[in-house]
Amino acid sequence: MTEGRPSDIRILVSGGSGRLASVLSLVGGDRVQALSRAELDISDAFAFQAALARLQPDVVINAAAISALEACERAPERAHAVNALAPGHIAHACSEAGTPFIHLSTDYVFGAPTDRPWRETDPVSPVNLYGELKADAERQVLAAGGDICIARVAWLFGDGKDFIAHLLRTQDDVVRVASDQIGSPTPIFPLAERLLSLAEHMAAKETVPRLLHLAGSPAVSRADWVATAFDALRRAGRRAPELVRVPMSDLGSSVIRPHYSALDSSLAAGLFGRELDWRISAMQAATFTDRRLSE
Ligand SMILES: NC(=O)c1ccc[n+]([C@@H]2O[C@H](COP(=O)([O-])OP(=O)(O)OC[C@H]3O[C@@H](n4cnc5c(N)ncnc54)[C@H](OP(=O)(O)O)[C@@H]3O)[C@@H](O)[C@H]2O)c1
Repeated sequence: MTEGRPSDIRILVSGGSGRLASVLSLVGGDRVQALSRAELDISDAFAFQAALARLQPDVVINAAAISALEACERAPERAHAVNALAPGHIAHACSEAGTPFIHLSTDYVFGAPTDRPWRETDPVSPVNLYGELKADAERQVLAAGGDICIARVAWLFGDGKDFIAHLLRTQDDVVRVASDQIGSPTPIFPLAERLLSLAEHMAAKETVPRLLHLAGSPAVSRADWVATAFDALRRAGRRAPELVRVPMSDLGSSVIRPHYSALDSSLAAGLFGRELDWRISAMQAATFTDRRLSE
């Protein structure tokens, strides 16, 4: 499967003002029509059907979600409508229209104790409401039939709106980061290339996996991920905050996060010919963000 092959397909992306949809627009150019929540509220099933009938896209990508864990806990009914029910409605509408559908899911569908990255074949085990709702959505999308791909992604970075960018933006001298949370940082631009490539293949009626882990590798703790980016900054002669490693329980969050949600993306590595190594992109992303902050 090749990334970024040119074509003239039209891809409808929901959640248009969000992080991933914005990068999909940047990378996909004219191929992508990204609609913001104001333009298309995915919790309104009729509005989605009308948009599908009007725009007749070759592929739909659902990048809309209430992605902040705390926001889900604060407004559980709205989160249920957007994160769990809407993907099912979209999948049904796409299935009826014969339109291929890519749904974005998350590493947070996992959370049970484990000692190896989660595979597509592993049962889900969410530990918070966001993870439960996203797991619910996956079941509904799979049940809807049609030409679907559920792409699980994780810890997106590289757009200047990620966790490391947030730490740099606070301009604190010392930052405290969890050393007991293991995951899969995923460079957002290469991810967008892969999603667009999947869309091309689905539009061409080629078979793709119905469930696919599209995350970076290797698995790493949040603290080691940040340390790698900060070290890269220092090597580039720039200043980086002091990193203090703490357990998640010291960070005072109201929401439980999984200790281990790293995804095994070897199926995708086989399809695309290589892994998404977050270490290469982490250095580029940190220096890019730091340069923008000092402008
Ligand atoms: N970011 C990560 O690290 C990460 C990790 C794992 C999985 N994911 C998944 O990847 C996908 C994209 O995430 P992201 O980081 O791009 O999220 P994001 O930046 O929060 O964007 C989500 C977008 O969805 C929109 N939205 C919310 N409710 C909507 C509705 N009812 N109808 C239409 N749009 C609505 C939001 O609009 P408003 O802002 O106007 O509400 C926002 O623009 C999501 O499925 C997320 O669960 C992300």
